[in-house]
Amino acid sequence: MLVVFAFLFLLLRTEVTFWILPRPPRFPSAQTLCPTSPPYPSIISPSPGRFNWRNITQHYPVDIFAELPATRFPKLPRVQFDFEEDETPLYHELMRKRRQAAVKTTFERSWKAYKDYAWKQDELLPISGGLKTTFGGWGATLVDSLDTLWVMGLRDGFNEAVQAVTEIDFSPEDGELNMFETTIRYLGGLLAAYDLTDCKDGRLLEKVMELGDMIYMSFDTPNRMPITRWSAKKAAAGEPQSAAAQGIIAELASFSLEFTRLSQLTGDMRYYDAVTRITAVLAEQQNSTKISGLWPVGVNVQKPDLTTDNLFSLGTMADSAYEYLGKTYQLLHSTGATASQYANMYSSAMDAVITHLLFRPKTPDNADILMPAAGRVNDRGTVDLDHTAQHLACFAGGMLALGSKLLGNTSHLDYGRKVTEACIWSYTHAPNGIMPEMFRMTPCPTHEPCDYDQQTSERQQFPGFEQVTDARYMLRPEAIESMFYMYRITGERRYQDIAWSMFEAIEKRTRTGLANAAIKDTSELELEDSMESFWMAETLKYFYLIFSEPELLSLDEWVFNTEAHPFRLRAQT
Ligand SMILES: *[C@@H]1O[C@H](CO)[C@@H](O)[C@H](O)[C@H]1NC(C)=O
Ligand SMILES: *[C@@H]1O[C@H](CO)[C@@H](O)[C@H](O)[C@H]1NC(C)=O
Ligand SMILES: *[C@@H]1O[C@H](CO)[C@@H](O)[C@H](O)[C@H]1NC(C)=O
Repeated sequence: MLVVFAFLFLLLRTEVTFWILPRPPRFPSAQTLCPTSPPYPSIISPSPGRFNWRNITQHYPVDIFAELPATRFPKLPRVQFDFEEDETPLYHELMRKRRQAAVKTTFERSWKAYKDYAWKQDELLPISGGLKTTFGGWGATLVDSLDTLWVMGLRDGFNEAVQAVTEIDFSPEDGELNMFETTIRYLGGLLAAYDLTDCKDGRLLEKVMELGDMIYMSFDTPNRMPITRWSAKKAAAGEPQSAAAQGIIAELASFSLEFTRLSQLTGDMRYYDAVTRITAVLAEQQNSTKISGLWPVGVNVQKPDLTTDNLFSLGTMADSAYEYLGKTYQLLHSTGATASQYANMYSSAMDAVITHLLFRPKTPDNADILMPAAGRVNDRGTVDLDHTAQHLACFAGGMLALGSKLLGNTSHLDYGRKVTEACIWSYTHAPNGIMPEMFRMTPCPTHEPCDYDQQTSERQQFPGFEQVTDARYMLRPEAIESMFYMYRITGERRYQDIAWSMFEAIEKRTRTGLANAAIKDTSELELEDSMESFWMAETLKYFYLIFSEPELLSLDEWVFNTEAHPFRLRAQT
């Protein structure tokens, strides 16, 4: 009797769910457009024959998921300069195309070397032709370069790369994964490539979902804060892991763009829900930190407590936490309460950045520039600035410029310009025309002009550079990134001219027999056998885009993640 009842009950249950839910959509392998609203019910990946991360039982599952706001419609202010009003002289067009072709040639050379010597590996060693495993061993450079191949019109290379991507296996392996890098490089790279195909290439969506399922498992903690250095092997075996007591703000707060896009594309709200929980913590604690408005570099993710540490920065270990606030607001089309939360957090953070973290360096030419610094709050509660410039922090110029348009604050464009100019200044005045990784500058007392006297000059290693503390150039993108934003937002062609000099300097100084290599010491030009995946993902993409027609990846239609992977803001027409 009991058995019959149980059977009937089960049957009924199945039937009922069947009646209530619309039929699950076929996996969109032949989609023609990106969805304009999240698919309902959500798309389930077929994942044939793959390790399925959804099969692993969570210790702390979520019952009710936060949902993306139902409607998304474009009501954001225009970001890009109105280039149509601007007539381009013919000679300028010719020059632009020649420069763009040169960037593409450099990319093709690096790509070929990667294919020949390090295919499907994380990184090519550009001097020895060896290879290196840095980020999980799934082919960081392969995935990171997908969208650049597409954007440069290298469709054969793109197809070949996508084919190789279908062979990646995200099943659990030994070793600790950096989930921030996994998200921005791999998940971001896959999402952007899928978006660029107009959501037509279901192979990419499958991979996106497989990886998404894996990354989601790293949020399986009592308070749903992520385990930012995570072992897939332990997770698969059901062994407990905890979030970091000594974590890093950028690693905690840089999932929002990728996860929001992932929920938009699949209708699976687990991702949006996961970042909403982080966002709530950021919002709640933003005014209780030692510099109200900013979050310190070091955070206790386990508790979570973001209020204890006293070091604040826009550079390493903090950067994208700030970058993603304005960009996620944009990706959400400013719709809904969470979008407002991002906008408010961004505004408060930038007020504090402008008040506390930007300084005017003393330069021989009294340049009107502002450099981001790091600040440490001392026992008296005041901020001691460390006037060390970081190449990484150069992204802030572009962030401020984009934010000025999104949130309508013209003064931020001014600040964005001055930060971008500080990085340009550093390139132009550094030995060999390349900005080093880190160097101390001498501050003016305020943002106003100040004297560059004999004494200052004697204290400096090079004019304007007090002391170069890390002379490397690691093929980084942040300066050209901000110049790209400034060009697309102001329409000023001088940014293209400066970009060209920068490109020439970098290409000439970093070129090896195979590809391009990092520089160990920018003043002596000794090379290091390293080419991180961001060289092809970011640096060369931004160089290419600053010389492209402004409609290519327009800032009104795309938002770039922190690894330069573009996500679609609007369905194509
Ligand atoms: C794992 O998930 C797949 C669906 O992809 C399913 O067919 C399979 O039965 C699951 N395996 C286990 C052990 O639950
Ligand atoms: C933090 O302060 C800003 C003003 O500086 C305010 O707009 C915001 O609402 C405050 N946030 C919280 C959570 O109190
Ligand atoms: C613009 O930004 C500045 C600096 O962050 C701030 O002081 C000012 O209140 C903002 N203006 C508006 C209209 O929001």
